[in-house]
Order: sequence, then structure tokens, then C-alpha cells
Amino acid sequence: MSYTFYLLTDPHYLAHESWVEGDPVNGRERGDQIALKATPEIFDSFTEKFLADGDADTLLITGDLVNAGSVIDHKSFQQRLDAIKAQGRRVWVTTATHDYSSQGGRDENIFNAVRYTATGTEDVESVYKTDLLPLYYDYGPADADSVHEASGSYSAKLCEGLRLIMINDNGNGRSHCGLFEDGMQWLSDEIDKANAAGETVLTAVHHPVISPWPIYSHLVEFEMYGGYKELSRLLCEKGVRVIFTGHTHVQNIQKYTDGQGRFFYDVSTTAMSTPEGKMRKIVFDPETKTLHVTSIGIETIKGLDTHGKSAKDYIYSLNFIGLLENALPDLKTDWNKFVDGVRGLLPTDKLQAHPKLWKTGLSAVNNLKMSLPAKFGKRYNGLSRAEIRDLRQMPLLPEVIAVVRRVFAGNGPFPPETVQYKVFTGVTQRVDHIQERLHVKKLAALLPEGQTLTDVLLPFLYNNRTGDDDEITIDL
Ligand SMILES: [Fe+2]
Ligand SMILES: [Fe+2]
Repeated sequence: MSYTFYLLTDPHYLAHESWVEGDPVNGRERGDQIALKATPEIFDSFTEKFLADGDADTLLITGDLVNAGSVIDHKSFQQRLDAIKAQGRRVWVTTATHDYSSQGGRDENIFNAVRYTATGTEDVESVYKTDLLPLYYDYGPADADSVHEASGSYSAKLCEGLRLIMINDNGNGRSHCGLFEDGMQWLSDEIDKANAAGETVLTAVHHPVISPWPIYSHLVEFEMYGGYKELSRLLCEKGVRVIFTGHTHVQNIQKYTDGQGRFFYDVSTTAMSTPEGKMRKIVFDPETKTLHVTSIGIETIKGLDTHGKSAKDYIYSLNFIGLLENALPDLKTDWNKFVDGVRGLLPTDKLQAHPKLWKTGLSAVNNLKMSLPAKFGKRYNGLSRAEIRDLRQMPLLPEVIAVVRRVFAGNGPFPPETVQYKVFTGVTQRVDHIQERLHVKKLAALLPEGQTLTDVLLPFLYNNRTGDDDEITIDL
């Protein structure tokens, strides 16, 4: 008999009690690039779908449960978790850096638990890191066979023959996230125990273990699971095939294979409150020893007035790229409306101070056509003169926006057969060629070792990894 569970991540839950309408909460929402104010309703919309699946037994949530470690948010969030448990389902969580605060400078964590008032913020009671294990004991650790007290990690049985190890970070996510030495030893021992008992082991942790794209770990390695190389080695060595992660807010599935052909997958799930927010439905088949992962989004936000917008369009309208796309039509017709629309994305004070200059510049960018980059890279893109001429009809900006829109959603829009692929890779190949000849140090420093600009661009254009970030069947 197969076994079904779900996973969602990074709810960044903000209780209704934690804000009143005004610039402070709206500024935070824009800065965070998630639909912060709607997180309770979005969470309900997802969990309603989980509860509607009669086969689904357990809901996993891999950290960044609340916005910034406020007791009010945790309590309100737990009421929602309790409502799920009251329906006979299990909820297992890990916590992460957004779940506690550094109120009073108690550590390096940058978050402060606040309530958003009409004019600013006020400090509210916060949770410290060591409070998290007792606070969430009934959401995972209580069902576990083994708990690593220092980190709050735990090992529990999902069903007969299937074990899940939920790894909680020891560190504070600034100078270190991930397990310390004793935590790694505990993890290694737990995997050994499970293997000896003939169980299949799955793992989950908040921070990424395989970089979603090569450029990510190159530029922001501190955002990776601390000791990700060591953990990768351990998973390969002990035959663990899957780790579920969050944090990057990116829908992404990556396979890592070591020198001896041993492998595992990092299944990273996008944050719940992003425009293409998804949760994973995971089905374990003990007969074939496979794990089938699919993805489920929401169409509407239950209990929220979105002015008739779908969940995707509503959340997208709060997103920087959505703000820009929605404001662009006003660029020609209504400057003030345009400036208002891009608040938080562009420096509105500068836009207002020099309207002519900005309007001319932005209009010029808006009027660019795909023929321009096509001509720049024509030695490399294989496009004929006639094809390049046709591209004079295709505005450039919407094609760039299409790529950026899918950065968090996974499965980039332009596979190799598309004209956009040819145009964009033509440009990067020409830059790579120039780089090869001139060795521009600044550009070289931006690129991961041994990679070209084209290599860096490809994963954003299309899924050049497993082929699909939303679905996979993994041989355990
Ligand atoms: Fe997050
Ligand atoms: Fe995070």
C-alpha cells in the first residue's frame, strides 16, 4: 500500500493581530517579496487542499514558519496547525531563522519581533532560539524515536519501512547554519540505525544542500546549509536518496552524483506565498521502492478579497517584477500613476525629481526590440538576417520579464528550440568570447570557477537539470 504525505515551506506567517494597514506593513511586504499580509488565508487555502486528500497523512513544513519570531505569530500559526491535527492528521515542522528574534541583540540573527502600526513598528514579545524545541515539541519531536536536543532535529517513522529525519539548524543562519559536529554524528548514527532496520530514509532541512543554480552557492554560499559538502558526502555514502529543502523560495529539483556514482536529490520547494507558490505531494510506493513527487498550487485565496484576481495574479501584483509589468502601460500615458505603481522597486523620489530624464530613459528601455541583442550575438545565435529583421517586431522587455518571472517558479520558459534561447545565449556567448580574449577580472569574479556566462544563464532559460521542477519519480 502506498503512503502519501505533503510538504510546504517558508510560510513566513504574519497573524492579523500583528499589523494594521499602513506604509510600515506594506513596505515590509514589498521588501520581502511575499504576500505577507495574506499568509493566514494562503496557508488555509493550501491546507484545505491537503485535508481534502483522504490519502494524505502528514504535513511537513520545513521552516521559516513565521515572519520574525513573534510569540503572537507563533501562537496564531499553531492554532492553524492544531486545527489540522484535530482532523486526525500529523503536522511535523522544522524551524529556521525567521522563527526567532535577536531582540536586544541577543545574537547575530537580524530579525526583530514587531507589530506593524500605522506609522511604524513596536517591539512585541519574541521567541529565542532555545525556546523553539519546547514550543514545537508537539509538532514532530513528540512523535519521534530520537530527538537531538541541541539542534531540535528528530528522527521519526512516517510509515512502516519509511523514516524521516528532520534536521534543524544548530547555528543561527548568519555565521553558521547547519549541524555542529555532535549533530552530524547523531544524524549519521540515526541513518545507520534505520539502514540496519531495513528502513528507507528521507531527510529534510531548511537550507539548500545542492545549489539551485551554480551562481547561487558562488555568490551567497552562506545561504547554503552550513557544511553542505559534508552532508552531501554523508547522504551519498549512506544511500539516502532525498533531502527536502526550502529557504531559497525556489521550486527546484537537483541531482548530485559523487565520484562513485552514488547520488541523492535535493527537492527544493518554493515558498507558499509567492506568485507560483506550490506544495509537494509525495507518494511512497514500498513495492517499487519509489517516491513520486508532484506539485500543487492554489487557484484562489480563501477568505480574502482579491478583487476577483486569482491567487497567482494577486500575489504577482505585490511582486517587484509584477509591479513593473503592471505599471509599464502607464509609462506612456500617466507618469504619476507609473511612479506610484513602482514604489519600492524604483527610487520614486528621484523619479519625481527628474521626471523628464527618467521618462526618456525608461521609455527607451521599454522600446527596445529583440533584434538588438540578436544583432549583437549574431555570430553565435545561428539566426538568419531575415529572422533578425522579424525580431524588430518583438519587444525585449517582456521576454526578459518572462525569464525573471520564473526564477522562483522553476522550469524556465525558453528551451533551446525557442528564438529567445538563441537570442539570449547569442549575447552571452559573445560576452564569453570577449572575456576569453580580454580576461575582465570583475566579470570572472562573478562567475563560478570553470563556468561561462552562458553556463550561468542556461538554468534560468529552461530546466537543464532534471527536466521538471514540479514532478519527479525517485528510485529509493
Ligand atoms: Fe524563507
Ligand atoms: Fe530561510
